[in-house]
Amino acid sequence: MSNIALITGITGQDGSYLAEFLLEKGYQVHGCFRRSSTNAFERIEHLTDKIELHCTDLLDQASLERLIAKIKPTEVYNLAAQSFVGSSWDQPILTGEVTGLGVTRLLEAIRMVDTSIRFYQASSSEMFGKVHETPQRETTPFHPRSPYGVAKAYGHWMTVNYRESYDMYACGGILFNHESPRRGLEFVTRKISDAVARIKLGLATEVRLGNLDARRDWGFAGDYVEAMWLMLQQDKPIDYVIGTGETYRVGDFVQIAFDRVGLNWEKHVVIDPKFYRPAEVDLLLADPMKAQEELNWKPKMSFQELVETMVDHDLQRLSALANTSLKVLRKSA
Ligand code: NAP
Ligand code: GDD
Repeated sequence: MSNIALITGITGQDGSYLAEFLLEKGYQVHGCFRRSSTNAFERIEHLTDKIELHCTDLLDQASLERLIAKIKPTEVYNLAAQSFVGSSWDQPILTGEVTGLGVTRLLEAIRMVDTSIRFYQASSSEMFGKVHETPQRETTPFHPRSPYGVAKAYGHWMTVNYRESYDMYACGGILFNHESPRRGLEFVTRKISDAVARIKLGLATEVRLGNLDARRDWGFAGDYVEAMWLMLQQDKPIDYVIGTGETYRVGDFVQIAFDRVGLNWEKHVVIDPKFYRPAEVDLLLADPMKAQEELNWKPKMSFQELVETMVDHDLQRLSALANTSLKVLRKSA
């Protein structure tokens, strides 16, 4: 029997890398997208003839149940979420509905249709919040600091609860921050790489940022989707921490990004209190030993390489855009 995967959040950063990864492994890949008035398929345009897309929403229980009954997946990866921590203070209820209760809706849909379906929940290091120990491991208590973190903690525990109550193969990957050229522009890494490219090309002069002292354990998203898949291939469902085991300041990311294009960051970065959070997660650092030993998983891309890859990508993208606009302008002149 062939493997059939259903990915919620396939239009997002991780969804696009996971779809590529599973196609390589020979899976039949299905993805959920939600109806939107603008095109949200930018990250998966190159895959649309290889995957099947279905319109559904984590807010709509019936649509999830119908879809699972129809396509009969062997594995479900729940990557859909209101995933931006900053917005979760503006929309705490929506964040709870999608990022928290959405997990239960999907688990219920699976339980109603077939409890042998394997389930991956995209849990988050944001659940550690005001950290109780460093580095953070699978046994570190949660102390979420944002409505997003609280919703993820709820979704994580529901996943554990369905595993324990119904003997389902359900597990939560507690992933630390992972980035890529496909990262949304609102997240700090991509905001910086995009701004550095704009400044280098003369399209902007400054970038406004918040807390440069926050520390994160940053890896490459393309490496992390393999860990998601590995978690669903074990004999038993177990939750794992996935990260690099290294932590850097937002300021370090800024420094490397500006260095890459030969500019002095101090001349272009403006600290703007608007980007400070009501409650900050000051330090995240993973202890990924369990995943390394039991899943044989290790990140491949270094922090420096990640920053430089993102800056190079945005430089190329924006140069191409600028060239096209110039050609159009010259033609119409
Ligand atoms: P992302 O790029 O923001 O993607 C989120 C996806 O969720 C998008 O496809 C989005 O669809 C979809 N979505 C949002 N609301 C939905 C709804 N009501 N119903 C159905 N789909 C909905 O996030 P990501 O970085 O790929 O992260 C993937 C998952 O991992 C998320 O759950 C995130 O919280 C979690 N996570 C991420 C990280 C990280 O560092 N990236 C770390 C730990 C955990 P649209 O395209 O329509 O917006
Ligand atoms: N977004 C943003 N914008 N963050 C800023 C800025 C800014 O202008 N200036 C400083 N920061 C700081 C934030 O205060 C935070 O401490 C850090 O940069 C990282 O912010 P984000 O890139 O928005 O990511 P996050 O760590 O809050 O959340 C991401 O990682 C989680 C895993 O720990 C998201 O991907 C979540 O979905 C994920 O669960």
